[in-house]
Order: sequence, then C-alpha cells, then structure tokens
Amino acid sequence: MTKVWNKSDWRSKPRVQMPDYLDHDALGAVEAQLAKYPPLVFAGEARKLKRQLALATEGRAFVLQGGDCAESFAEFSADNIRDTFRLMLQMAVVLTFAAKVPVIKVGRMAGQFGKPRSSPTEVIGGVELPSYRGDIINGFEFTPEARIPDPARMLQAYTQAAASLNLLRAFSTGGFADIHRVHAWTLGFAEHDKAERYREVSNRISDALDFMNAAGVTSENTPELATVDFYTSHEALLLEYEQALCRIDSTTDLPIAGSGHMIWIGDRTRQPDGAHVEFCRGVQNPVGLKCGPSLKADELKVLIDTLNPENEPGRLTLITRFGAEKVADHLPKLVQAVREMGAKVVWVCDPMHGNTIKATSGYKTRPFDLVLQEVRGFFAVHRAEGSIPGGVHFEMTGKDVTECTGGVRAVTDEDLSSRYHTACDPRLNASQSLELAFLVAEELMARRSGDH
Ligand code: PEP
Ligand code: CO
Repeated sequence: MTKVWNKSDWRSKPRVQMPDYLDHDALGAVEAQLAKYPPLVFAGEARKLKRQLALATEGRAFVLQGGDCAESFAEFSADNIRDTFRLMLQMAVVLTFAAKVPVIKVGRMAGQFGKPRSSPTEVIGGVELPSYRGDIINGFEFTPEARIPDPARMLQAYTQAAASLNLLRAFSTGGFADIHRVHAWTLGFAEHDKAERYREVSNRISDALDFMNAAGVTSENTPELATVDFYTSHEALLLEYEQALCRIDSTTDLPIAGSGHMIWIGDRTRQPDGAHVEFCRGVQNPVGLKCGPSLKADELKVLIDTLNPENEPGRLTLITRFGAEKVADHLPKLVQAVREMGAKVVWVCDPMHGNTIKATSGYKTRPFDLVLQEVRGFFAVHRAEGSIPGGVHFEMTGKDVTECTGGVRAVTDEDLSSRYHTACDPRLNASQSLELAFLVAEELMARRSGDH
C-alpha cells in the first residue's frame, strides 16, 4: 500500500521552481478562498481518462496532448480556445484514421499557467529582474513590480480555467465537434499546393465518412460522430494552488486534484524526494512525468515506484523530451528499465522541449524538421525495443503565429518577428500542427502495416 499521504505533506519537502511569496497573509487568504471554490473537474472524469490511458498502454488508444506552453491572461478569448480546440480535433481525426484506435484528446488548457524557468533572473539591456514564471505567479511585463509574485493571480487563473473549461465542454457536446465539420476544415489545409503529400489520406478520410453516411451512420443517429471527450491537463507546478483545489472524491474516498483531469511533473521538478513528486503521488488523477536527458534509469525506477506503486495502467504517462539528436541515445535505457520492472506506462513523445534553439534573429524557436525528427526517433526506438508508442505532446496554437520555423507554409527566421505571441516557448501554428499530425499518421500507418 502507499504510504499515508496528506495534501499538505509537500510543504516539508525540498521545493524548487516555486515563488517565495512576500505577503503570507495575502497568500493564506487566497488559499482559503480557493479551498472553498468548487473543483474544476469531477473525479469520475479523471477516472474515465485513466481508463482510456490504460488502453493506450496496450496500443488500444493513442494520446494527443497539446496546447499553449503558457496560457496567459492577456490572450484569453473564446476565439483562441475555439481555434486550438478545433485544431486538436482535426489532428485527432487524422490520427484516428491512421492508428485505427481512439485518440484521447488532452489539452494543455484550463490550468497551464505556471512555468519552470532555467534561470531565476532575466537580463534585458543590462537590467536584471526575476524571471517571468507564468501568469498564475507574476507578470510578463519587464518591470520590478510585475515580477513580484502575487497570490491574487491564483484567483484569476482559477476563474479563467473555469471559463475555459466551460467553453470546452460546450464545444465538445454542442455540435461544434461534428466529425464532418472537423474534416471539412482539414480538406482546406490539404488543398494547399505544397500539401499534396497529405491529400491522399484526407481524401481517404472523406471516402470513409461518405461511406458511413451512405450506410446510414450519421451524426444525427450516432452521437459519437457529433461529440467528443476532451480532457484538460497542466504542469502541477504551483502547489499552493494544487493543494487548495485538492478534494476528497466522495465515490472512492481518495484525494483528487480538482484543478484538471491530468497533471504532470516537469523535467525540472521531478526530484524523487521533492515537493512536486510528493504532492502528485497522493492524488488519484492520471499523472504525467516529463523525462529529459538527465533522467537516469535508476531514478526513473524510483519515480515509477513512488508514483504508481500498484502498477495501475493509465495512472502514469512518461512524456519523453530529449531532443532530436538525443532520443536514440536516451530513450532505449528508459524503455528497458520500464520493461525490467514490468511497469505499465503510456509512452508519449514531446518533441518540443529538447529542440529549442535561438534563431539568428534572436528569437527562441523550434525548427519543424527537428520536431519531426524527434517524433520519428521516438517511433524508431519503440519499434526496435518492441514497446508501444502511446502518443504525442505538442506546444501548439490554432492561431497563425510565427514562432516555430518550417512547414509547408514555411516560416523563416526572418518571419519570426511578424506574429511571435507566445508568453513562453514557441508553439507550432495551425498549419504546422496539422502537417505534423499527417506525418505522425504516416508513422502509425507504417507501424500497423509492419513496414518497418
Ligand atoms: C513544458 O511542458 O512547458 C515544460 C516546461 O516542459 P519540461 O518540464 O519538459 O521542460
Ligand atoms: Co514549454
């Protein structure tokens, strides 16, 4: 059995990447208020997601996790939520067609506000200030006042998450998610003259839908074609916020993080005896663990034992993020360690965080080709090891931003300045994300036909 756990135990553990609030009374008041608010998700939903993820451990479902690097207060709008949601559905249709299994849709949405940073301070024009840590903690503006951590930001994050989730739920079941509409948007992408390579798959999807329609399987008589399950996720970084929204689920009597369906532990906060692992081990939600190049196989084994002592399938998702050049070196050892333990995990590829470079223009960017190369490397390792590639994780937006370079509607280094809007890391834009879904689809189809 798991060791006894209390939602405040993390407070006695070493903590990293969390702010030191100056005003303890204000912090306490915010925590007390949040603790009275309703949780954002219902425990039954988190359990349903866990059951679906359990299928992904066996290759009977595939995960698509995506959204902003950092949600921001300034960019909060119905259009932004709608565009990213729509894009995820488009990608999911393509992936479902290729994988021939359900695609589990998990947004980096409605809670993805806290950011770990490589450096505690930032220097601009000779001025040094504390780093921006996400809108739930401090402000993006480069002024000393904005960079002071303000607990009241947690309340605004909660409100924004609640409103986002409300809209996502409405879109999921209110007719917006109809597969025919979603696919019609994708056809528009495939018409682009450089997208010829993707036209065949999109035409085959059209044929499949036409056939179903002719056979009488329509959105009117088949609710599965007109609605989707959509889940939310974020990095559980700010533990005061997580604790305040942690509740006891009345069905199971077990603690549940009420802040989102799935939470994950970042690559910088995964110390086995640290505060973040301590908090996450005690809640029953599906938990993700970011695995970067510095993670040793032995340490992974300890983390698996701590986070999933009962070896419950669907509980633990390992989100690997090594970089295109490193995946072939680092991933096999971790796959072997998991196999030695007989651990049931979902392997998900995050090809974003190991492939960030500085463009000649000075912008942080990610070349599309490196992102793709890491995805292909991930599939290749799993093929060689006989393990199951369970999903992909992208930083992306439905907007036409210019943050990552490359893709069929090529973004160049010089273009980056034109629509560079991210509050943190560079995201794939709508066209790049959909293109990547088609390329992941090629990997999945090759896997199914045993081509390689
Ligand atoms: C992130 O997902 O935004 C992130 C910071 O990732 P990682 O912890 O893998 O660096
Ligand atoms: Co990021």
